[in-house]
Amino acid sequence: MNLPDTQKMEDAHLARYYARKPVTIIRGTGAMVYDEKGGEYVDCTGAYGVCIVGHAHPKVARAISSQAKKLIACHGSTYNDARALFASKLSAILPTELNRLFLSNSGAEAIECAIKIARKSTGRRKIVAVKGGFHGKTHGALSATWDAKYRKNFEPLVPDFVHIPFDNSEIAKETITNDTAAVLVEPIQGEGGIRIPSKEWMMLLTDLVHDAGGLLLVDEIQTGFGRTGRMFASEHVGIKPDVLCLGKGIASGLPIGATIAAEDTIASLSVGEHTTTFGGNPVVCAAGSATIDVLLEERLVDNSRKVGEYFKAGLLDLMGAHRIMREVRGLGLMLAVEMRFDVHQILINALNEGVLMLDAGRNVLRFLPPLCIRTNQVERVLAVLSRTLEREELAKLPS
Ligand SMILES: Cc1ncc(COP(=O)(O)O)c(C=O)c1O
Repeated sequence: MNLPDTQKMEDAHLARYYARKPVTIIRGTGAMVYDEKGGEYVDCTGAYGVCIVGHAHPKVARAISSQAKKLIACHGSTYNDARALFASKLSAILPTELNRLFLSNSGAEAIECAIKIARKSTGRRKIVAVKGGFHGKTHGALSATWDAKYRKNFEPLVPDFVHIPFDNSEIAKETITNDTAAVLVEPIQGEGGIRIPSKEWMMLLTDLVHDAGGLLLVDEIQTGFGRTGRMFASEHVGIKPDVLCLGKGIASGLPIGATIAAEDTIASLSVGEHTTTFGGNPVVCAAGSATIDVLLEERLVDNSRKVGEYFKAGLLDLMGAHRIMREVRGLGLMLAVEMRFDVHQILINALNEGVLMLDAGRNVLRFLPPLCIRTNQVERVLAVLSRTLEREELAKLPS
């Protein structure tokens, strides 16, 4: 099948809910992906932050294949060996107090569960979220997501969600009161443009919600699993979640979400109150176990920190040469460049030169490559970016 067939077939049958890039990806290895003509790309999207250990990692592929030959479907109402192993491996890398997990199929679902735990365990309704935050697009998660473009056509959303300004202590103090069930926060805002809050503010949110008798729900769906150069980004900002939400890369791209809390907290939901047909699927769990093994064996969290520092330094160097760049932000391999203009054309030009990048809002370029990316691949990204920025500058800025 050639290129036009693939794109025409998808366009003929699928809902047009995604802004598509004109590329058909059919294969990947490590930090590289390939189109059907053999064109290669350094993948700085990581399939939206999902590809943690590298594309089609042989150990993950083997684990999926051997589990698929053994058992594909097993509902949570019966026990399963692959699920048990994954639960114990995941627990071993979590903070010790977070010792029970609920498995679902996406980040948004992990958030839905966290909201229900908070409301039921406190007997309260108010959830305090943050302006600029993103938590998914199902109705509960969307009620916590900030951006009006996702929300406005679906109101009324779930009641009793309020949004406080990012990094603002005064309004946090006024808003987090003893009717608050929970504060829901990303340790680094991802879709909001890779924004790192101050440690002081995150500690304040923790103190305020605990003094009020509510829970701290931490969304590490994008930041977790080594993305920021630590296993969890909460470590950078010194917070301890009461409920931790994970998703994206924890099964290397098979659908998964996890809502994790201490025994007493998670037990506030009783049997049958929150389940999902596919949660804890054996094939997904086998992929998850292999992902954790590779993450640890290949020391990818260290690589994320080291190569991330190299990448960030390279971006800062470029900033010295390009007036079109406004700010470089991020930690580990969760990086962004805020531009003075819309980044759409930059993304297309970079794609044409063999680099896939993401945006995060209109004028922010975002980089979420697999954590196994090497410095020579980062150099290639920086060289393409530099050329692309030169062209944009000529087009957009008077000399
Ligand atoms: C921080 C954060 N929370 C939640 C979600 C929603 O995850 P999903 O798209 O798997 O529902 C995302 C997805 O980008 C995210 O970045």
